[in-house]
Amino acid sequence: MSATLERPPRTQDVGTGRVVWFTGLSGAGKSTLAAALHTELATRGVAVELLDGDAVRENLSKGLGFSREDRDTNVRRIAFVAGLLARHGVTVLVSAISPYADTRREVLSALPDTLEVFVDAPLDVVTTRDVKGLYLKAIAGEIQHFTGVSDPYEAPQTPDLHLRTDQISVQDGVQALLRALGEG
Ligand code: PPS
Repeated sequence: MSATLERPPRTQDVGTGRVVWFTGLSGAGKSTLAAALHTELATRGVAVELLDGDAVRENLSKGLGFSREDRDTNVRRIAFVAGLLARHGVTVLVSAISPYADTRREVLSALPDTLEVFVDAPLDVVTTRDVKGLYLKAIAGEIQHFTGVSDPYEAPQTPDLHLRTDQISVQDGVQALLRALGEG
């Protein structure tokens, strides 16, 4: 018996997609900006996917906590999936606190074409916004290891884009993102 090895079909060359990595404190506006950019790019016919922190933690990273080790595992998993999608020409929007500079550097440098976006709002602003009511609990000590309160956030020193969400509107943020992507 002889086996004939068939060549796998060639994937059409669709080019490499970009990975837009939104990092910042909880409540800084990462998900809002990523969702708004997602809508804008999809409307323009761009193949785009959103890997949002909350959804990732309900699925891909279910069961992980917020120790440094678990956060790093989470970030590496997201980067792995982002890389697979980007390889097929998809623009990937990642929204995750991703608090550790070393880990961000590691995963971003392994991806082909990235844009690191620092979604920045001062701690007193996000604490006052407290969209999910988590800062109040963290300050009261009811949630341990909460980023910015009882756990570190290492801000990017040289992000590709720095958006102060306490100073600009979502629309202006999206315009800045589109310009940075060459879509403006
Ligand atoms: S990380 O550090 O990148 O793995 O975090 P991420 O996957 O983005 O998850 C952040 C969301 O989880 C909620 N949450 C916490 N955040 C920070 N620290 C602690 N201890 C914590 N516990 C729960 C919080 O709602 C974050 O949501 P976002 O979207 O960032 O506001």
